[in-house]
Amino acid sequence: MNGLHPDLARVLVPEETIQAHVKVLAHQISLDYADKGPIYLVGVLRGAFIFLADLVRCLTVPHVVDFMSVSSYGKTTESGVVRIVLDLREPIDNQHVIIVEDIVDSGKTLSYLYKMLKGRNPASLRTCTLVQKPKGPLDVPVDYLGFKIPDVWVVGYGLDYADKHRTLPYIAELKPSVYTR
Ligand code: IMP
Ligand code: MG
Repeated sequence: MNGLHPDLARVLVPEETIQAHVKVLAHQISLDYADKGPIYLVGVLRGAFIFLADLVRCLTVPHVVDFMSVSSYGKTTESGVVRIVLDLREPIDNQHVIIVEDIVDSGKTLSYLYKMLKGRNPASLRTCTLVQKPKGPLDVPVDYLGFKIPDVWVVGYGLDYADKHRTLPYIAELKPSVYTR
């Protein structure tokens, strides 16, 4: 593609493909929750805000948008220990909750959030992620998935590398030389 930033190796998911998949996901969710009353959508900051913004504008069922932010303890996510940086504004007991993530890599973040929110007794709890990398089996379900992608670092459409490239309209693979230097 012309004009690709020198940090980027290639476009993995073009803008039109993302937008088409977001519409399909919103349609599925709208069908599944048609008679259930408002959905409580939990966007995981920061990466999910662009995906969530597009998703909610395609939903045809009532919904509430809220956000959580988590960060990993220590320098690596290997421990799977996650800290809540920003919590939900409302209690979610008896709510139909969907966690909306940008990307599932090891699955530790989603697993932590799922178990924690499950403990707050929602009426139902599902998960939605735009992209998933091919790591081992997850201990939580991914109910709504946009794309499976190869195990490379990706940026764009909310995803960043060191806070860069988040606002690209497509999802692109970062050159390995950028994150190994
Ligand atoms: P997990 O807990 O290993 O599934 O990691 C999930 C989090 O790591 C995501 O919510 C992202 O913030 C970050 N992450 C993992 N892979 C990527 C990537 O390729 N690009 C940008 N962020 C990523
Ligand atoms: Mg994230």
